[in-house]
Amino acid sequence: MRILSGIKPSGTIHIGNYLGMIKPMVASQSRGELFCFVANLHSLTTMFDGKKMAEYTHEAILDLLALGIDPDRSVFWVQSDVPEVTELTWYLSNVTAVGLLERCHAYKDAVAKDIPPNQGLFSYPVLMAADILLYQSNLVPVGRDQKQHVEVTRDIALRFNSTYGDVFAIPEPEITESLAVIPGIDGQKMSKSYGNTIEIFGEEKAIRKKIMSIVTDPTPVEAPKNPDASTIYSLYQLFAATDRTQLMAEKFRAGGYGYGDAKKELFSVLWEYFKPFREKRAELARDPECVARVRAKGAEKARTIALQTLNKVRELVGVL
Ligand code: ADP
Ligand code: TRP
Repeated sequence: MRILSGIKPSGTIHIGNYLGMIKPMVASQSRGELFCFVANLHSLTTMFDGKKMAEYTHEAILDLLALGIDPDRSVFWVQSDVPEVTELTWYLSNVTAVGLLERCHAYKDAVAKDIPPNQGLFSYPVLMAADILLYQSNLVPVGRDQKQHVEVTRDIALRFNSTYGDVFAIPEPEITESLAVIPGIDGQKMSKSYGNTIEIFGEEKAIRKKIMSIVTDPTPVEAPKNPDASTIYSLYQLFAATDRTQLMAEKFRAGGYGYGDAKKELFSVLWEYFKPFREKRAELARDPECVARVRAKGAEKARTIALQTLNKVRELVGVL
């Protein structure tokens, strides 16, 4: 079974990215063949600073290695290092109805917000379909917000297969429902675009400050509180052991326990949880050749497999 997922380089990885996507991806290394890549071409639809782009890609590679992606066991590469994906995007574009892309949320959101969408943003799902189909992926673990894109991929694959002949495996999205939407410090979905994230590899002081600014209701310290209505508790239970989680729930219900205390406990559990990852990242960053080495090896592995599919497609569409 082939499992594939990509992550856009955006400078920092937050807890939502980690739980919604990276952690399941790391775990999938032991149940199938993992294909994991840094989706820098997708980032180009909204990011127009080349220097930053290169820097973010470098950071993303270190982040993913530190969080447990193993380039020896998995295929781990940078999207643009396999330029064949853009060629496949073109072939897929010609069996993709405009109406299908008009229904996609990234494009719709841009239109709704009066942001003039560029062609790249409009065809974002076709490039994503090419990522998935080029490697004959069976399973695509994503957060709930990306499910639509995997469904579009299925539509495109079926359409291509029925037009030209069976060439693509039909992928399934995989969403861990309990982890589907991790809340941010304001209680909405954690997202870079809402500025409500808690970073994994941030400075201690900055992370503490973020956690201390989690939005709470004005219930006084003495009063009993409902843990299930609290963002602090929602985040805490994702990282703390069961007995500690239960203890916090009891303290909430008993009263006399302030949100400030709960935030301090949340900080300490998070800081502890990510400690081994921070240490691994610092160690990787000390080797200046590490990223280039991983990148070259990943590109070679990915490209060999990509070409097997692409050559069949080239033949089917009649360009060979
Ligand atoms: P952001 O919303 O911060 O821009 P991205 O859209 O780059 O994050 O998301 C990268 C991956 O992380 C996607 O697979 C997405 O589904 C997942 N993800 C992002 N935020 C969350 C969240 N709050 N809860 C669960 N998964 C998330
Ligand atoms: N669009 C995804 C996101 O915003 C990233 C991505 C690009 C991806 N290509 C992919 C995810 C292929 C899964 C499979 O996070």
